[in-house]
Amino acid sequence: MKFRTLLIILLLFLSGCNLRVLDPQSDTAGIQTNLIYFSFAIMVLVLLTVFALLAVFLNKYRDDGSQEGIPKQTKRNKKLEIAWTVIPILLIAILAVPTTVVTMNQSPNSEAIHSPEDASPDEVFVDVQAKRYKWTFHYENGKTSSDLYLPEGASVVMTLKSEDVIHSFWVPSLGGKVDVLPNKENVYELENVKQGEYKGKCAEFCGTNHAKMRFTTYVVPEDEYREWLES
Ligand code: CUA
Repeated sequence: MKFRTLLIILLLFLSGCNLRVLDPQSDTAGIQTNLIYFSFAIMVLVLLTVFALLAVFLNKYRDDGSQEGIPKQTKRNKKLEIAWTVIPILLIAILAVPTTVVTMNQSPNSEAIHSPEDASPDEVFVDVQAKRYKWTFHYENGKTSSDLYLPEGASVVMTLKSEDVIHSFWVPSLGGKVDVLPNKENVYELENVKQGEYKGKCAEFCGTNHAKMRFTTYVVPEDEYREWLES
């Protein structure tokens, strides 16, 4: 197959996707994106170092025909051995600290559990209910909807639960996936959501129509949200 044909086929696969990842539209997603870029940067650093050394060694130790037989064999090099043990440990430690902090802060069951009574003014509480193959969003005043509506700039505290099997709540622009479990509530907070329209879907295979378990998140100005909520 020609390279160009292959490219076109690959492009067709790409174009089917309208969920945007690494396009953070909330503080929560922003922090997660930075973490991904940070680990990517460390990975690129390691990759470049290894490939640069590979290029140097390929050049330096190339068989130019001047040597006969097997080259001199060496064993043990304490400095090198310490270096390639300590450096990876350091890199993992550097990566582990921010990862742990972010995970603990954003963990679905950590500090986000507090009730509407002691909420701050910019907090909005939404109960998210998953059922094969539908999402239902319950708002504080009792209103329900099948698409998610949020006021701009809000911190959204979501209580996620499933009526049947395990689903996964995912609006990539606003934050990473969270499991929606049948026998345990998960709480997830999306901080400072920005105005816009974001696609969301179930990200855990839950049955034949799993792929159709989609919804849209509309983040609108505060007054528009109030108006919608009261309608
Ligand atoms: Cu619900 Cu997949």
